[in-house]
Amino acid sequence: MIEVAVSILSADFARLGQEIETLCKQGADLIHLDVMDGHFVPNLTFGAPVIKAIKPYTSVPLDVHLMLENPEKYVNDFIEAGADRITIHQEITADIRKLLKHIRSYDVKAGLCLKPATPVKKIEPFLDLLDFVLVMTVNPGFGGQEFMQSKVSKIASVKKIDPNIEIEVDGGINDVTGKLAVEAGADILVAGSYIFNSKNSQKAINLLKGL
Ligand code: DX5
Ligand code: ZN
Repeated sequence: MIEVAVSILSADFARLGQEIETLCKQGADLIHLDVMDGHFVPNLTFGAPVIKAIKPYTSVPLDVHLMLENPEKYVNDFIEAGADRITIHQEITADIRKLLKHIRSYDVKAGLCLKPATPVKKIEPFLDLLDFVLVMTVNPGFGGQEFMQSKVSKIASVKKIDPNIEIEVDGGINDVTGKLAVEAGADILVAGSYIFNSKNSQKAINLLKGL
């Protein structure tokens, strides 16, 4: 069964705790948290204090996607706040192996993310330290963007490099694009606007899980 990581970028931030409680009851397998610093991506969102505040409201793992120029500076804050999975980007300047090892030493799952323009071969040196790979199908920075069909083959390439690695796909996922991602090898679908814009979010989550 496909797992759904609901991205809360499109949630009502004034009542984030309740929104998350509801999403968990509706079948979300993970809560996906997009942390943006205004440097690595042209947008700002939230940091570790918000994640700490919502932790008591979730019954599923927190999937933290760090779109930060210097994740090594902040990663401990996210671990302490209750992150269960942390994704860093391949395009950062820090020592990626060191950072992945550090994350895993806290029993937190570590993932590496590839922006649409980053070739798949860039994950190869890190495969032994990865719990999962996050393939982006939009340019990181904003929810509600259109899925890049040209990146479907990238999902298949990751699968080919390591058939056992868990693949999470992020950006522009809906019932149609999600199907393409699953056919190419996705195990986890991140979905934000598709869930929040649907009339019945429970039905939307379950539809993706059944793809
Ligand atoms: C984009 C984020 C995504 C985004 C997904 O930078 O990493 O997780 O919130 O939102 P939708 O599903 O609306 O594309
Ligand atoms: Zn994300």
